[in-house]
Amino acid sequence: MSQLSILFVTSEMAPWVKTGGLGDVSAALPAALHKAGHDVRVLIPNYPALQAAFPQARLAAQLPALAPGLPPARLLSAETAGLPLLLLDCPELYGNAGNPYLDDHGHDRQDNPIRFGLLSRIAALLGQAHSPIDWQANVVHVNDWQSAMAPVYLHFEGGSASVVTVHNIAFMGCFGHEYLASLGLPQHAWRFDGVEFHGQLSFLKAGLQFATRISTVSPTYAREIQDEHFGYGLAPLMRHRESALRGILNGIDTEIWNPSTDPELVSHYAANRLAAKRKNKSALQEEMGLEVADDVTLFGVISRLTHQKGLDLLLTIQDGMAALPMQLAVLGSGERDLEAGFSALAKRYPGKIAVKLGFDEALAHRIEAGADCFLMPSRFEPCGLNQMYSLRYGTPPIVRATGGLADTVVDVSEETLANMTANGFVLRDDTPHAMWLAMERVCRSRPDKRQWLRIQQNGMRRDFSWKQAAHDYISLYRDAISARELER
Ligand code: ADP
Ligand code: GLC
Repeated sequence: MSQLSILFVTSEMAPWVKTGGLGDVSAALPAALHKAGHDVRVLIPNYPALQAAFPQARLAAQLPALAPGLPPARLLSAETAGLPLLLLDCPELYGNAGNPYLDDHGHDRQDNPIRFGLLSRIAALLGQAHSPIDWQANVVHVNDWQSAMAPVYLHFEGGSASVVTVHNIAFMGCFGHEYLASLGLPQHAWRFDGVEFHGQLSFLKAGLQFATRISTVSPTYAREIQDEHFGYGLAPLMRHRESALRGILNGIDTEIWNPSTDPELVSHYAANRLAAKRKNKSALQEEMGLEVADDVTLFGVISRLTHQKGLDLLLTIQDGMAALPMQLAVLGSGERDLEAGFSALAKRYPGKIAVKLGFDEALAHRIEAGADCFLMPSRFEPCGLNQMYSLRYGTPPIVRATGGLADTVVDVSEETLANMTANGFVLRDDTPHAMWLAMERVCRSRPDKRQWLRIQQNGMRRDFSWKQAAHDYISLYRDAISARELER
């Protein structure tokens, strides 16, 4: 099969810039495509963290101002483990340290439409005949609203095929009409079947309208976003474009997330050596100021604290939790009222509930390993990576039946125990009572050591690597390229 030239465009990439799962995907998927023998390059803004990581980056091109509102910039080239990176350098737009989307007060950065308009514009340029470097992409693969305008430029100006991946349809990148001109887009793009969305310019909607192919990060979410409840106003467009839409389940980086080698753990273990997991539990209890005991069930949470993740349910069952033989370790950051709610919860139950506010990659690994059960009662979850990390760490999760959670977690029942697929606990409702019942069920199940071991092993033995997904993306790219050729 012929080699593809793929431009992968992203606004975050682990380990340098990460606010959530997109950062992990942007590190692992391009690496898997590269490993499969394709010529993939990653385009990302040259944030301070990348400047620090790649001081040797070389100048690849000077980029003139391409639209009235877009400043001139530079493309720098660097490499990570053989994978080429294109760093979009424009200090006036990307020079601030910290969160890539929010300012120090937690508000969206004012110039986001320009910051990500430029990222999209340059992405498109690299798929066009007048690419500024000695390379042109056959397919430009953009991710979420931050790069979703690239397919729009490719549509109106010509160029390669495009794929947009929706990691979360709730974030649409909506800005004023005036950006149409400043981003250099034609006035006739302002249509309900163009870039306009309820009187605003929506980057995501525009990308979904014009991309050659669309993907999202799990098969269930691909169905859900065609439904009003999950589609945030875009369900009719998703239904309209159904034949161009695929659901491809994310993988996880099985080297970084490997309990038998993870450098953050005090004790390494594997599916056939699960007794060694226990030391991680006592170490975590000690680290987080919980009472050190093995007979209580330790629940873990690692999450952005937002409505999406459904963790407010835990705050409404405080007394119920107090009555269970359990502990809770939470690592998270996000909305102020949820942060305050969890801090108060920890104060109310010292030794039983511990909360660490903030983003802490190393502690995330220790919670995955040290907890007995992982909680992820999301209201919606396009894919979710944490439930896969916890399955791999022998920490069966409690999840809601939505998106990628529904595609990865198999509820424990007689039937699924018999056919060796049972690997966690699935909630049908998002009521506090359902949450409590599931936690109670886990506390009751764990003492049955043989059955619990089987549930852990079923999760640990499933293949969550990127191999299958990389293969599916390659077919999607080929499909997009053929479709684009037919359009010409
Ligand atoms: P989302 O992208 O919606 O936040 P995912 O489950 O796909 O959800 O990915 C979340 C990623 O971010 C995981 O790698 C998870 O470990 C990490 N993460 C989330 N919150 C924190 C935190 N407070 N500290 C460390 N890692 C976190
Ligand atoms: C988004 C989604 C999450 C998904 C991640 C990576 O942040 O909320 O479910 O796993 O993107 O695709």
